[in-house]
Amino acid sequence: MIKPDTIQSIFEASRIEEVIGDFVSLKKRGANYLGLCPFHNEKTPSFSVSPSKGIYKCFGCGKAGNSVNFIMEHEHYSYPEALKWLAKKYNIEVEEEQMTEEMQQEFDERESMFALNSFVSKYFNENLFENSEGKSVGLSYLKERGFLESTIKKFELGYAIDNWNDYSAHAEKNGYKKDVIVKTGLGIEKDDRLIDRFRGRVMFPIHNLTGKVIGFGGRILSSTKTTAKYLNSPESEIYLKSKVLYGIYFARTAIVKQDNCYLVEGYTDVISMHQNGVENVVASSGTSLTVDQIKLIKRFTPNITILYDGDPAGIKASFRGIDLILAQGMNVKIVLFPEGEDPDSFAQSHRTSEITEYITTQAKDFISFKTNLLLDETKGDPSARAKLIKEIVQTISHIPDGIGRTVFIQECSTIMNVPEQTLMNQLNKVLRDNYRNKTSSPEIRDIPFEEPKVRRGEQLRFDPLELKPLENEVLKLILNHGSSNFVLEFDPEISGEQGEEEELNVLDFVIDELNNDNIEFTDEVNNKIINELKKIKSGAEFKQSDLINNSDPEISKAVINLITDQYELSQNWEKNKIFVKKSEDLLKDYVMSTVLSLKSKHLARRLRNISEEMKNTNDEAELSLMQMEYHELKKISALIDNELERTFNH
Ligand code: CTP
Ligand code: MN
Repeated sequence: MIKPDTIQSIFEASRIEEVIGDFVSLKKRGANYLGLCPFHNEKTPSFSVSPSKGIYKCFGCGKAGNSVNFIMEHEHYSYPEALKWLAKKYNIEVEEEQMTEEMQQEFDERESMFALNSFVSKYFNENLFENSEGKSVGLSYLKERGFLESTIKKFELGYAIDNWNDYSAHAEKNGYKKDVIVKTGLGIEKDDRLIDRFRGRVMFPIHNLTGKVIGFGGRILSSTKTTAKYLNSPESEIYLKSKVLYGIYFARTAIVKQDNCYLVEGYTDVISMHQNGVENVVASSGTSLTVDQIKLIKRFTPNITILYDGDPAGIKASFRGIDLILAQGMNVKIVLFPEGEDPDSFAQSHRTSEITEYITTQAKDFISFKTNLLLDETKGDPSARAKLIKEIVQTISHIPDGIGRTVFIQECSTIMNVPEQTLMNQLNKVLRDNYRNKTSSPEIRDIPFEEPKVRRGEQLRFDPLELKPLENEVLKLILNHGSSNFVLEFDPEISGEQGEEEELNVLDFVIDELNNDNIEFTDEVNNKIINELKKIKSGAEFKQSDLINNSDPEISKAVINLITDQYELSQNWEKNKIFVKKSEDLLKDYVMSTVLSLKSKHLARRLRNISEEMKNTNDEAELSLMQMEYHELKKISALIDNELERTFNH
């Protein structure tokens, strides 16, 4: 923990043009400096640095920040790492707050594990060039696979001598403690003796984001069936398999530059792709893709392209990966390699331009990928086709953002030739089911909502976007019709059964909708009431009287007012002529419109707040962020309004 005083001096000493000047060639233009943006590819400079404000901003890609942000972004450092980098540059002594003894111990232990791994990794690498067994067995194998010496050095590949106690003894001799050797998993303790875990294997060190060796993968060279092809370090304090991606240290800059991360299966895929000029590649190596690994990629880009060999196991694995990636709100494409090829072999036998060309032309989004793959199987089999549509809608349901879901529903509708509305209904059913079971992604995120900041003396008399009247309508709806059933029909083509429909009551439906979009009520008492209603929700029967007689006098009073106040509610509906409809449809439309109106108003308020904030800011970086958010929300808002219109006019 760096002391606040030190942080202060670092900020004071740092001159933005000097800091950035270490990485970017800057030319003076008036009061500012201009250069080529290091965060995206460009030919004409749009990266501007302002010494007076101490900030940078790229007018091409929108990246902006101060000195510390720059170092964090450019070097992918954490905040303290960036501060330390700047302190070193300006010769500022970093004073850290005292660590507790326990923290110190843990810190020391991790440090000594890193030190050992680095020592052993170097030793493995030296074996390839200086040890006769290393040369004749290890190096010749790697060369045979087409790896250049520069590649071997870059990835610190190595060889572990085929001996019971070689590197462990070497490490001990050099002062590394036995318990550390055991903790890293490099050594195994047996009857008080230390045995090497890796023997007679080609070694692939695994680096974390900052380039430290945290573990190893070792490949056996003989093809005996008795031992696994790859042996990996066990999990340790510094090697958590689910959080690591092989190659991330070497790939991170390229991932940012290309704004895309290629995901492959194995060590050799990563290395061969690098050697052949494609560097934005990582591997999930040995584990199936985890959420933490996806989040790691998300720090650098929202785009993932999965490159798998075309065997059935690879394809299956990619299906699961797709859903996980989508659930993180990221974009995913899939590339299949020709029969019998994997990224390793393909990269070794093609030029850089051919590799990138293949990937770009073959990349399919998940819908075309799944459908093209499965469509053949479903020909002339309606139930298989229905199952496929269901599956794709299920996948789409993982996308946390409503607008993204809609885009893919449209695509699916075109490819599969099924009406959009049919798919939408199915999607909504899945979303509700997911919400109920809570088995799917818990991140059914949505529209952020903030109370508007009303300044003193600025209180509006009447706010057209006030939410309370609509909240009242939602509550009235539930209070008066909560246990009425509400039928949603699903297209038999998809559900597979004639006239499948879901019957649910108004209470359940409305609560699910509110939960799905994280909508909370703004009025304090209304909020109390809806929370009471949420408690009832879980299956139990809804009784108006329970609320009327609620032990909280505030609740009961408000509920009574709502129930008795019949008037103000209906103007809207009459105006929009929905009363001419059949009475069964009426309730459904009433429910839908009320919920949608509330959503629409939430968005409108959020939009208003942002445009207010935009007027009040002079910070260009902040402004461009706000504009982005504004446009996103505007799109969603248009969709909801469309939907509302459809409800009124269908
Ligand atoms: N793997 C593993 N243990 C195994 C087999 C595989 O940990 N017994 C992991 C390794 O990280 C490997 C990846 O899964 O890189 C992919 O496996 P595979 O395709 O079999 O290996 P390749 O990387 O293709 O290795 P090689 O080309 O050397 O056979
Ligand atoms: Mn291979």
